[in-house]
Amino acid sequence: MHSPLITLNNGIKIAQLGLGVFEEDFDVSKTKEAVKKALEVGYRHIDTAAVYRNEEEVGKALKEADVAREEIFVTTKVWNTDQGFDNALKAYDRSLKALQLDYIDLYLVHWPVKEKRKDTWKALEKIYKEGRVRAIGVSNYLVPHLEELETYANVVPAVNQIEHTPFCNMNSTHLKCKQMGIALESYSPMVRGLKKDHPILKEIAAKHQRSTFQILIRWALDNGVITIPKSSSSERIRNNFEVLDFRLGIDDLKALSTLHDGTRVADDPMDYL
Ligand SMILES: NC(=O)c1ccc[n+]([C@@H]2O[C@H](COP(=O)([O-])OP(=O)(O)OC[C@H]3O[C@@H](n4cnc5c(N)ncnc54)[C@H](OP(=O)(O)O)[C@@H]3O)[C@@H](O)[C@H]2O)c1
Repeated sequence: MHSPLITLNNGIKIAQLGLGVFEEDFDVSKTKEAVKKALEVGYRHIDTAAVYRNEEEVGKALKEADVAREEIFVTTKVWNTDQGFDNALKAYDRSLKALQLDYIDLYLVHWPVKEKRKDTWKALEKIYKEGRVRAIGVSNYLVPHLEELETYANVVPAVNQIEHTPFCNMNSTHLKCKQMGIALESYSPMVRGLKKDHPILKEIAAKHQRSTFQILIRWALDNGVITIPKSSSSERIRNNFEVLDFRLGIDDLKALSTLHDGTRVADDPMDYL
């Protein structure tokens, strides 16, 4: 079974459910096998970043896997210290080299670094206009960052990747993205396991005979959001993909909409105003 596809604002398609590969302890020795396992299970979308230090391992997995390059959607991101026009251009080339690819599907500005984000975006627009990347986008952009971007962007980002879960519910950003034609992508969709025993989640999970992790992934999918749960365990990579044969009901979504408590696992983008 394959993930549903979402059509981005330039017509290209992305698998709505992908694999994240950020290792919190930077032990990247697990990345290659994780990506190969994911491709075997049916994932066709891999999310990495220069700062994860595992683009090379992702590249090796893509080379060794039995799936054609054009069937796989690869995202990577320009890190904060590589921002600015010239630096971002160089960072793109470094990522291509590390991944052993001649194009990336989606290149994101990882965080909205205040003094540099405009020039960084101009660099991504140049790469895009030269046809060297299939789509460009941003990450950790909330409404104020998007409003500012509207004043200087010639290309509307295809994607905005943010932390967005029932516990960190970024509805206003989702609405703004919809208005701008930007697809929303949620990272850390399972809150890194922090909420696995939440009673409301457990109740919904029991009703559907699923895990609380699967319920959180399904919440993103049922809200029309792209998402990238991370695991480097073969079993969990498979479990996290086994969410394509059920949907949450209205009552479940209503119960999940009460869970916002501001829990974040990553920085607050409002600190990047
Ligand atoms: N743009 C950004 O600023 C940004 C920030 C953070 C993350 N991201 C992206 O989003 C991806 C996902 O976010 P994340 O890695 O922060 O958090 P996450 O996907 O919510 O959770 C990953 C954690 O949960 C564990 N896990 C996964 N599936 C599980 C299951 N079924 N049962 C029990 N434990 C499970 C994983 O351990 P095991 O690996 O041992 O299974 C890992 O410790 C990242 O990998 C990265 O690609 C982007």
